[in-house]
Amino acid sequence: MTDIGELLLSRIRDVTDYPEPGVMFKDITPLLADPAAFTALTDALAEIAGRTGATKVVGLEARGFILGAPVAVRAGLGFIPVRKAGKLPGATLAQAYDLEYGSAEIEVHAEDLSAEDRVLVVDDVLATGGTAEASVQLIRRAGAEVAGLAVLMELGFLGGRARLEPALAGAPLEALLTV
Ligand code: PRP
Ligand code: MG
Repeated sequence: MTDIGELLLSRIRDVTDYPEPGVMFKDITPLLADPAAFTALTDALAEIAGRTGATKVVGLEARGFILGAPVAVRAGLGFIPVRKAGKLPGATLAQAYDLEYGSAEIEVHAEDLSAEDRVLVVDDVLATGGTAEASVQLIRRAGAEVAGLAVLMELGFLGGRARLEPALAGAPLEALLTV
């Protein structure tokens, strides 16, 4: 593993049985509290934004906001929030997706994306891929191009990468860490 990978991994805390028994939660708050690690993470994700030719960064509420906003600033790009349903005041596009129990919906302001945009989606974790898949569908429906998906951490055993392949249609999925 690279030095940056080691640094990032060392600042992610495993919390057993959270939010429910049998689940190992990946807590990124120690990483956010460490300026060297947070800067290294931001720089690594901003490099991906540059390399993929992104013109905008989409962050996925909530933890994708924490990571995506500094990446957008670092890369000199606009930041577009994809929010959980009911939080955006303007005209929105909405996309539903399935959860383990039930379903959820995310939204983006329709005016924030257009055919001129190449969008890098940023989030903290890729698990089943449901959230990321819905965001990619939303971006395409808004008429924009998907430059790629960049996450701090991919939970490889949950198969999110394979699920996302059709939606990404060749756009890269970059994970700084795979656990
Ligand atoms: C978490 C995580 C990812 C998503 C990954 O978000 O931050 O966005 O789950 O899971 P998936 O690949 O199975 O869709 P969540 O909405 O649980 O919490 P948050 O609001 O703290 O980001
Ligand atoms: Mg999230």
